[in-house]
Amino acid sequence: MSEIRVFPDSRALANAAAEYFVNTARDSIAERGRFTVSLSGGNTPRALYALLATEFFAKQVDWARVHIFWGDERCVPPDHAESDYLMARESLLDFVPIPSTQIYRIQAENDPVQAAADYEALLKAFFPNTPNFDLLLLGMGDDGHTASLFPHTTALHEKQRWVIENYVDKLGVWRVTLTLPALNAARRVLFLVSGDAKAEPLRKVLQGIYQPDEFPSQSIKPLSGHLIWMVDAAAAALL
Ligand code: 6PG
Repeated sequence: MSEIRVFPDSRALANAAAEYFVNTARDSIAERGRFTVSLSGGNTPRALYALLATEFFAKQVDWARVHIFWGDERCVPPDHAESDYLMARESLLDFVPIPSTQIYRIQAENDPVQAAADYEALLKAFFPNTPNFDLLLLGMGDDGHTASLFPHTTALHEKQRWVIENYVDKLGVWRVTLTLPALNAARRVLFLVSGDAKAEPLRKVLQGIYQPDEFPSQSIKPLSGHLIWMVDAAAAALL
C-alpha cells in the first residue's frame, strides 16, 4: 500500500516527516521495545534531522531504544563533506542521547567490496530473518535514483545480497548501498522529495511507464510494508 502526501513547502514537508518519525518511533518501541530506522543521505533530509534535534521533537523520542542505520553511503571517510554519516551526525546524532553503540555506520572508507560485506554481516547479526526496519527513509535524485541504486547500474539487479558495492559510472565513484531486497523488506518506507528539479522525474517515477532500470525509485515496493511519498508542492507540480 502506498500513498502520496503533498505539502505547501519544504518546511511543512520536514515538519510532517518529523511527526511521522516520532510517531513511528513511539509505536515501534511500544510494540517491539525498539525503533530501527535507516537514514537517507543527500540534502533533503537535513531539515528533517535538524527538526528532530530540536527539543520539541527530541523529547518525544526514547533515544535509548533507537537503532540507527543507513540505506547507503559514499565511499569517503566519515569526516568527509560528502559523508551521509557526517551529515546525520552534524544535524541530529550529536544532539540526541542515543548510545553510540546503537549507531551502525557503513564503513565506506574501506574497500567497497569489504565495506558492503561487513555491513551485510552487521545487518544479518541484527536482523536474523530479514532487514525489516521499522522506518526506512529514502530520497530521490533528479535522475530517479534512490539510495545508491543509480540508473543502469549492476546493483539494481541484485536479488540475494542485502548490501552491495556499486560503481556509478556517471559520477566516477563507488558507493555502498542496500539492495532492493533489503530496501523492500522495511515495515515502513518514507520517500522525502522536495524542489522543482524533482517535478519531472517524480512525474515519470509515479505516473510514467514502468522502467525501473531508467528510474530505480520505481522498484521500491515494500513486500509487506507501507510506502509513503511526502513531497512539497514544487516537486508535485507536474502530478
Ligand atoms: C545519497 C542518497 C541519495 C539521495 C538522493 C537525493 O547518499 O545521496 O542516499 O539517494 O537521497 O540523491 O538527494 P537530495 O536530497 O540531495 O536531492
